[in-house]
Amino acid sequence: MAQLTQFPQAFSAPAQQSWISNLLWWLMLLSSAGVVVYATRYFVALPSDAHFARYILPLRLHIAGGIGALLAGPWQFSQKLRARALNLHRWLGRFYLLEVALGSIAGFFMALVSKRGLPTHLGFGILAVLWFFTGLQAYRMVRQGNIDAHRQWMIRNFALTLAAVTLRVQLPFMMAVLHWPFPRAYITVSWLCWVPNLLIAEWMVRRRMRHLVRSTS
Ligand code: HEM
Repeated sequence: MAQLTQFPQAFSAPAQQSWISNLLWWLMLLSSAGVVVYATRYFVALPSDAHFARYILPLRLHIAGGIGALLAGPWQFSQKLRARALNLHRWLGRFYLLEVALGSIAGFFMALVSKRGLPTHLGFGILAVLWFFTGLQAYRMVRQGNIDAHRQWMIRNFALTLAAVTLRVQLPFMMAVLHWPFPRAYITVSWLCWVPNLLIAEWMVRRRMRHLVRSTS
């Protein structure tokens, strides 16, 4: 791991955050916690859904990874935590990336057997691959001491982790409000739960880059 002194940004006092980014951070934390609470049911009893009961081992591994990522992820974006406890940020980051690796590898297996066939195999499968590789890139960048690129890959990666939240908002909405049948809703959500998240993350990354260029020129 590169020396701390190579990362002046990591030490800098937290800049004043706007109320909107504070609000979004709390929303991210609370919605992540909501999915964690929902997901723990799979460790309490066997699911009544025969499909999930059949694949309970990979499903539990996948959910364990997902829970760890959702619990650790939001704290990694706290400027205060990074500035005051860099070591904690590092250990939490290692834990987060290990959980992403576990969740994505088991998630890829679950994608191959997911309900509703090829469209969901592809939707969830590509999500699992991107989830893994954006995490790997974030790790590679921090090992090389490239903190800005590390942050950018973490933004993309956590936007994909949040697919677990968007899915659980979109699916009930499509079924209860739009009255879509399950197959249509499920196929749609296997893509819609992550593609917009990734586009928003990309927009944030580019906006940040423009801001950095402007402030250094
Ligand atoms: C971001 C990458 C993710 C991918 C690629 C992914 C993929 C999948 C797949 C393919 C299934 C099975 C669907 C089926 O068989 O029809 C599944 C189920 C599930 N996943 Fe994920 N998932 C991801 C993130 C997460 C996260 C972060 C959590 C958080 C705990 C999570 C929790 C669950 C739960 C609880 C289920 C069981 C289904 C349910 O009750 O809604 N997943 N996931």
